[in-house]
Amino acid sequence: MNKQNHPFWQIIHTITDFPKAGIDFYDISPLLYGHVTQLVDELLAALPDGFLDTVGAFATTEARGFVIGSLLAGRTGKPLILIRKAGKLPPPVFSENYTLEYGTDTLQIKANLPKTNVLLVDDVLATGGTLIASKRLCEQAGHGVLGALVLLDLLALHGDIGMPTYSVMTT
Ligand code: PRP
Repeated sequence: MNKQNHPFWQIIHTITDFPKAGIDFYDISPLLYGHVTQLVDELLAALPDGFLDTVGAFATTEARGFVIGSLLAGRTGKPLILIRKAGKLPPPVFSENYTLEYGTDTLQIKANLPKTNVLLVDDVLATGGTLIASKRLCEQAGHGVLGALVLLDLLALHGDIGMPTYSVMTT
């Protein structure tokens, strides 16, 4: 399917100048209201054949990433690793500072989960700051990082993010 002309573009909403001037916000709410099965189908179809068999767990960041990660874990039965903003996870944790499309923050991961090969998942890839910090966190925690799967890849906002990336939609 053509990622730049994907039917989901007719469903999601693009809001300009939100939450700040100059930022386009891609609202996936309408996709979650009645298109959840299709959403998971399309995410899994974006992966190369056989790739899913190599995934030991999905890892994802709050908040919209949690929705994508939960849906994928629910469909596949694979474990889900929650990467959270600072102060939400009890110790022991690892921390990484990161730059976001609109701001900076700190992400944390549990330090004592069983080590596995993870696929990072999120709704949107913008600057790549979130995924790069998430990859570092997973590696600190001893996980292998297979790559990243996102619903929407904003190609113009990032360069090479240092891992294979798979997407349903691009712009
Ligand atoms: C959004 C989005 C991604 C991230 C992508 O999350 O859900 O996680 O930004 O941007 P990046 O590639 O520039 O890092 P946000 O931090 O806005 O949080 P939310 O999911 O809680 O809305």
